Amino acid sequence: MDHFQLKNGVLHAEDIPLSQIAEEVGTPVYVYSRATLERHAQVFREGLKDAGKIHLAFAVKANPNLAVLRILANQGYGADVVSGGELQRALAAGMKAEDIVFSGVGKSREELTLGLDQGIGQFNLESEEEGVMLAGIAASRGAKASATLRVNPDVDAGTHAKISTGKKENKFGVAIDVAPAIYARLSQLDGLDLRGVAVHIGSQLQSLDPLETCYARMGELVAQLRGAGHVVTHVDLGGGLGVPYKPEDNPPSPAEYGAMVARVTRDWDVTLMFEPGRVIAGNGGVMITKVIRIKPGLDSDFVIVDAAMNDLMRPAIYDAWHDFEAVEPSGETMVASIVGPICESSDIFAKQRVVDRVETDDLGIFRTAGAYGATMANTYNSRPLVPEVLVDGDRYAVVAERIEPATIMAAEHVPDWLK
Ligand code: LLP
Repeated sequence: MDHFQLKNGVLHAEDIPLSQIAEEVGTPVYVYSRATLERHAQVFREGLKDAGKIHLAFAVKANPNLAVLRILANQGYGADVVSGGELQRALAAGMKAEDIVFSGVGKSREELTLGLDQGIGQFNLESEEEGVMLAGIAASRGAKASATLRVNPDVDAGTHAKISTGKKENKFGVAIDVAPAIYARLSQLDGLDLRGVAVHIGSQLQSLDPLETCYARMGELVAQLRGAGHVVTHVDLGGGLGVPYKPEDNPPSPAEYGAMVARVTRDWDVTLMFEPGRVIAGNGGVMITKVIRIKPGLDSDFVIVDAAMNDLMRPAIYDAWHDFEAVEPSGETMVASIVGPICESSDIFAKQRVVDRVETDDLGIFRTAGAYGATMANTYNSRPLVPEVLVDGDRYAVVAERIEPATIMAAEHVPDWLK
């Protein structure tokens, strides 16, 4: 359930007409609903009510806006970060250092040091080499870094290849068959408090089956590690739960996910950690765009909108579907391709799709844009960086400004020797 609904013929975010935001802030613009984000955070937590001791870490990569992170911090969420920048954001948004988990396949020496300096709760190690480096840095300052070892369980997540991470050919984690030996060696190191294992097999999962297979393998691994005399107190089960992008999509609900987790992990006796991203933020945001003009095409019209692939990359790189709706629908439909102004044929949001009829200057939205939307935006074609707005009931605030080309040019320099 989300709070982007029609009221008196106009799409609203909670109590604010999207047309008002478009007029006052301009387009394209991302709009998030506080009530929706809070609800999703609560529904996910509620789904895990039978899973014993849990720790929830929002995957910052899905939506790193400071206001969004603050909402999640207030909901008792920590953060799953994958860079020094995300770590700084999580702290700036008010997340407690001990609630932050540092994931990511290529944490640099500087990033590991930053994490240690800030006293974060856990590093998820992606290789033995990383563990050795972290242990060395920690030991040199007389500290011990809490860590888990990320395992690659060789499970096909059944999702888009570009967002699958748990097959043995993927770069993530250490192969499950060599994990016990690596765990044994790392647990000898002075600078590490190796306390468990972590896994994440992919994103936008449509079925619980691959997750259950993966978690069952993790359960066997935990038993094997304990059998070898290791203490295992934490298992990080990652993120990955899918969301509906189309009305007919039917991904598992957080309640179904939580029931599966509770069943599979019943005897583990650990703190279970989760890193949800999309399921919290995806349907908590939309992107508003304005129709620049309609251009006749060979088989159907092109609706040229003022948003482009730089503002919402997902259709261009994953062939992802985002529902398009008019902000003030007339009830009529049209078949059209919705495209942006960028000079690439991949700058297309919808191909010959039946959509609400729109005309020049009409407003429309792309739904389910709250996760992996603004955060993946860029300024290709020297377009501005898209702004973000947060709605809370009948008030709203610009939570990320539009960054104009002039601001970006100000950080560029033509060297004297070219003048
Ligand atoms: N934990 C780890 C270690 C991850 O790599 C990810 C996502 C998550 C948690 C959060 O997964 P979620 O719950 O959001 O599925 N840009 C792509 C998605 C990339 C996801 C990468 N890792 C997209 O737009 O679909």
